[in-house]
Amino acid sequence: MVFAAVLAGGSGSRMGNKEKPKQYLNLAGTPILIHTLEKFYINNHLEKILVLCPEEWLEYTKDLVKKYIGKTDRVLVIEGGSTRNETIMNAICWLEEQYELTEEDIIVTHDSVRPFVTYRIIEENIKFAKKYGACDTVIPATDTIVESEDRQNISNIPKRSRMYQGQTPQTFQIKKLKRLYDALSEKEKELLTDAAKIFVVQGEKVCLAEGEVSNIKITYPYDLRVAESLIQTGHSEE
Ligand code: CTP
Repeated sequence: MVFAAVLAGGSGSRMGNKEKPKQYLNLAGTPILIHTLEKFYINNHLEKILVLCPEEWLEYTKDLVKKYIGKTDRVLVIEGGSTRNETIMNAICWLEEQYELTEEDIIVTHDSVRPFVTYRIIEENIKFAKKYGACDTVIPATDTIVESEDRQNISNIPKRSRMYQGQTPQTFQIKKLKRLYDALSEKEKELLTDAAKIFVVQGEKVCLAEGEVSNIKITYPYDLRVAESLIQTGHSEE
């Protein structure tokens, strides 16, 4: 079975909006989270789509789903965690309670604030995670990436042709992800902000799926303006 987790458990501090986390802000008149959820809802390969949000936004999120998607048992709103990875683990715990999961079962994890994910990207993620166990969505880096260990001087300039920018979805065999996460120390869990890295630091392969330049993450107010104009000019699915 294939499941999706739409990660909406963050507070959006860099967006600076005090009233609502950024996933609830409107984009072309509809909450960002709903744009994202719709991309998953139209994919019939997904058994269940979990939306994970902060506890105090549970009722609000359930109401939004009812309003925009309608009454459905394919979408379920549950509480997220204190970190992004903990939010993913909450999704996995819920799935473990509800289903007899096997090694083949897959979870597609996606930022709720990347509303322009495409059907093709989701399908490619599912295909690769089934075949290889884990998959991350990336685009080739356009800028040269400069590394600085002390935040003052350059320590390394990696070859640009080998550099990619990470996007989401990130898709995993559920049981394997859980085993690898549980094997980490509390300190390692704190340091690992990226779910694919849980595999990488333990020597497990993560294959690359091709993202899209338009699959942007809305982080700052500027990104919301870019997203609005991508919709207005019809460039949101390129
Ligand atoms: N996320 C989550 N649970 C958390 C933290 C983040 O589900 N405990 C989700 C966010 O809701 C978002 C995605 O992970 O959809 C990407 O994270 P980011 O853009 O960093 O979101 P925030 O943590 O909300 O933003 P900020 O870092 O600016 O506070």
